[in-house]
Amino acid sequence: MANPTIPVSQNSILIVDDNANVRRAISRSLQIENYATRQAANGKEALEMLTQYTPDLILSDINMPIMDGIEFFKAVRDNKEWSPIPFVLLTSAASPADVQKGRELGVEDYLTKPIDTNDLVAIINARLLRSSEVKVSHINQSYLETVTALANAIESRDNYTGGHVDRVTTYTIWLTQELLWPAEHIRFLEFGARLHDIGKVIVPDRILNKPGKLSPREWNLMRKHPAAGAKMLQGVSHLKDILPYIYHHHERWDGTGYPKGLKGKEISIGGRILAIADVYDALTTTRPYRPARPRKVVIQFLRLQAGKHFDPDLIPTFIKAIKKRTPLN
Ligand SMILES: [Fe+2]
Repeated sequence: MANPTIPVSQNSILIVDDNANVRRAISRSLQIENYATRQAANGKEALEMLTQYTPDLILSDINMPIMDGIEFFKAVRDNKEWSPIPFVLLTSAASPADVQKGRELGVEDYLTKPIDTNDLVAIINARLLRSSEVKVSHINQSYLETVTALANAIESRDNYTGGHVDRVTTYTIWLTQELLWPAEHIRFLEFGARLHDIGKVIVPDRILNKPGKLSPREWNLMRKHPAAGAKMLQGVSHLKDILPYIYHHHERWDGTGYPKGLKGKEISIGGRILAIADVYDALTTTRPYRPARPRKVVIQFLRLQAGKHFDPDLIPTFIKAIKKRTPLN
């Protein structure tokens, strides 16, 4: 996932001031810093502009004819679409009453005229960074909630695997923490872990919950779930990079897995990690047809399968991560 940096060249500032010279001077200073600017002579004119375009930040004078800065600020905050736009008021040192009024209404940032260019750029940069961080954190939270809801919907159909998705996610996070992945990448793989079996939506309940062995036809359908999951999510732009993780989670290091029979590092790193977490959880939990196996036995199995089913470089790190974070059993 991209870092929450501000693409400065794309940020647009709406400058609202009745004095054309002030507007032009501010605009010039901001354009030097690669901001795009637009100008309005009063609150009313600015509100009309807002119906046509959305700036990244509004810089507004207080004292203006027709509609002053305070009225304009109130109108912006009362509009659901415009209210998140950061708002900076331009005040005069000689008007403390106006500043007080703005503060009561919730204006966070002020610039006192005459405006110092360095202050102007510093305040705008800081305000935009704050606003961008808030946006990124809200978006990430919404993504995760959506993804979790989808994953829960799939898991609720499967009587045997209660909590499987949560545990696979946890093991995945532990392994990537042990690998010292950056938090952003870990969070990204978390989406893959939560959604790895989402393609099971194509498998009917009677097959998903069948107590005995699957027939070759049923097994054939079950084997389609990684591709089905990747296909389902291919239109979701922010999940684009995790599609290989979902597609590859049943591939095996030695090429005997499915759906493609990929080998070694042809399998995406996320796919190789999910394969370990998925199998580890399946073997350490009780299923209707067999009891949970002790951790020691499962770890032995993982070691035996390093270089066969699993990436041999990841297995020692996975075992280390598990031993460090779970009590012995
Ligand atoms: Fe699966």
